Amino acid sequence: MTEDLFPRQPGDPVFREALADGAWLLRGFAFEEAVTLLIEVDRVLQQAPWRHMRTPGGLQMAVAMTNCGPLGWTSDARGYRYESCDPTTGKPWPALPLAFAALARNAAQAVGFAHFAPDACLINRYQPGTRLSLHQDRDERPLDAPIVSVSLGLSAIFLFGGLQRSAPVRRVQLAHGDVVVWGGRSRLAFHGIAPLAAGHHALTGSQRINLTFRQAL
Ligand code: SIN
Ligand code: FE2
Repeated sequence: MTEDLFPRQPGDPVFREALADGAWLLRGFAFEEAVTLLIEVDRVLQQAPWRHMRTPGGLQMAVAMTNCGPLGWTSDARGYRYESCDPTTGKPWPALPLAFAALARNAAQAVGFAHFAPDACLINRYQPGTRLSLHQDRDERPLDAPIVSVSLGLSAIFLFGGLQRSAPVRRVQLAHGDVVVWGGRSRLAFHGIAPLAAGHHALTGSQRINLTFRQAL
């Protein structure tokens, strides 16, 4: 796609798209670093492999996940929470790569959230047919810090709703290199991912990888 070959640049006035009050889509913001980011994802996976966590209700999640950074989001019969060690290996989560931290901070800054310092990066893997149902990110303590979400590989339809589950949901196509930032009045907005369409991406094959940066503590 032309859009992929010529990503818009930060500072370009049409580059930021407002999705809601406090929520922004930065198209192509991570495009140039994408190869580096994916190399770092592979490095994380060597220490903390993909796993399908279980919800507190006992259902296995369709999205495969892992984490890097001081804290990692986990879910099991005991509930949703952040842990400093990977329950699968018993070791600390892999360090947050410098390229991840810089990208997350710059994206937050680009839409007015200064000094974003994520201590958690959840890495999600979607394969064709995988979806993530509507939910709020509410396991974090500082609710004044935004969420920064980076899309890599296959495109997906991001579902972005309101503060109530029943609110209307926007459907936004997220392509390789796109970044969404939500905070402020949108911090607790319901969001999700529609079932991933089959496809092939030169860098990820038949997968979409998502990096979600959060300040958990
Ligand atoms: C999430 O809500 O944790 C992930 C969203 C995404 O994959 O874009
Ligand atoms: Fe989420």
